[in-house]
Amino acid sequence: MSSYERLKERYLAANQSHVFTYWDRLNEKERDELLHNLNKIDIERANRIFAKSTHPTSESGNGQPSIEPFPDDSFDTTIGEESVANVESWRKIGLDAIGAGKVGALLMAGGQGTRLGNSDPKGCYDIGLPSHKPLFQIQAERILRLQTLAERELGKPVGSVIVPWYVMTSRPTRPATVAFFEKHQYFGLSRSNVIFFEQGTLPCFSPDGKVIMASPTEIATAPDGNGGYYAGLRAPLSPSDPDHTGLSDLKSRGVEYLHAYAVDNCLVRVADPVFVGYNIWKHADCAAKVIPKATPDEGLGVIALKGGVFTVVEYTEITREQAERKDPNHPDRLAFRAGSIANFFYTRTFLEEVESFESQLAFHIAQKKVPYCPVDNPTGETIKPSKPNGIKLELFAFDAFSFAKRVFVLEVDRKEEFSPFKNPPGTGYEDPDTSRTAILAQQKRFLQRAGASVADGVVIEISPLVSYAGEGLEAAKGKTYVRSGFVESVEELDGLA
Ligand code: UD1
Repeated sequence: MSSYERLKERYLAANQSHVFTYWDRLNEKERDELLHNLNKIDIERANRIFAKSTHPTSESGNGQPSIEPFPDDSFDTTIGEESVANVESWRKIGLDAIGAGKVGALLMAGGQGTRLGNSDPKGCYDIGLPSHKPLFQIQAERILRLQTLAERELGKPVGSVIVPWYVMTSRPTRPATVAFFEKHQYFGLSRSNVIFFEQGTLPCFSPDGKVIMASPTEIATAPDGNGGYYAGLRAPLSPSDPDHTGLSDLKSRGVEYLHAYAVDNCLVRVADPVFVGYNIWKHADCAAKVIPKATPDEGLGVIALKGGVFTVVEYTEITREQAERKDPNHPDRLAFRAGSIANFFYTRTFLEEVESFESQLAFHIAQKKVPYCPVDNPTGETIKPSKPNGIKLELFAFDAFSFAKRVFVLEVDRKEEFSPFKNPPGTGYEDPDTSRTAILAQQKRFLQRAGASVADGVVIEISPLVSYAGEGLEAAKGKTYVRSGFVESVEELDGLA
């Protein structure tokens, strides 16, 4: 049987034979292209995911999932004076694990940043800091600093502590991301400790379950959501070494705990020893960092129980009544206020288990404008729709939480840990300006907490290489800073006093 016949049979059986509509009008090269593209897609799996996601079984009678707040004993906070001793002890546990090489960071960088209208990966973006460091660099330097901190505080030799960085890209973001890291020499990290891996893609569907053709030779596809790392970590890191996967890499390095986070939060504490230490102490399988949601409309998923198990209810999926519901014990608070800042903790053991229940996870549906090539269009031209015409299927990073036995939630201070960049410049909300302002305001607080004064209007950017979370600034005590600038070492601060 030729590859054409085999594929035709498969797509026919899958009720997707329209993918061959243009066959008779294609030349030899185009036919090869179509067959190559069809071959890459696991159409039976895609159909299964579509069916499961569009006909969920676990919903209550009115079609809306019923959700409940999670129990208090799954929750702790780092906010307030009473938590200071806890935070210190969690940090110590976390830093010990980092020093022992048991902690890795996982960056979700596969999103296409459609809200930005910019095709570069978000991590390449310069948010306009005095140093013009892009988001990737800020994160890389936090890892460098954390390695140094662990070495110093635990008395280890320089260069002996490694926090490997697993960078998840998608087909659209991979080439530009890797090129950016190469161009910037991995921002000072060792290239061998930055591990790129790719999330999958899935076909886009029309509402009646047919895959959408992007052109006569190609099915429209989209990244399979930031939960793509569950499967992405199992895939070979390079075709030449099929046994070397993200998971096998974690294992061979002895990494037991992973901190996963989204690329767009300029205040992210990468591989945060406090969060990691808290979860080691709790024997968590997985966990989420949260902040109190500011308003019912804020674009944050909330942690809740659905059918008795942990989940994040996305801001696109929560009903108005649920979003506005008040906590009966604290009528001034929202019932669902644990806003997820897309910072998660996992044990490697749990990530290894995901494969065993993955087929039970329902993907989320997003109605999107998918450029398409109508089957009855004789020119084969691609049309850009003006309103949503298709469905993208996405797995979310926290979807596996519902299968975990021990899930915990740690609340952190918004102004210290969360300022995301979602919108284009000039929006005034979650944009590059608000990100820059949040970092610079935090660094002013770092100086003030160290006992320094900063004159009005003076703006000082402190490199993450100098301070990860406000530590290391003892030399600033008693000084008054009167000049703006950015510093790469604590000594350089003197020039601004
Ligand atoms: C996300 C969270 C939301 C949280 C909010 C906090 C999800 C689905 N939603 O919303 O719960 O309250 O952040 O800011 O996680 N990404 C990939 N691959 C993809 C899609 C996205 O790696 O296929 C990455 C993005 O690069 C980004 C992160 O996932 O780092 C979040 O992306 P996005 O899908 O834009 O979610 P938000 O709507 O921002």
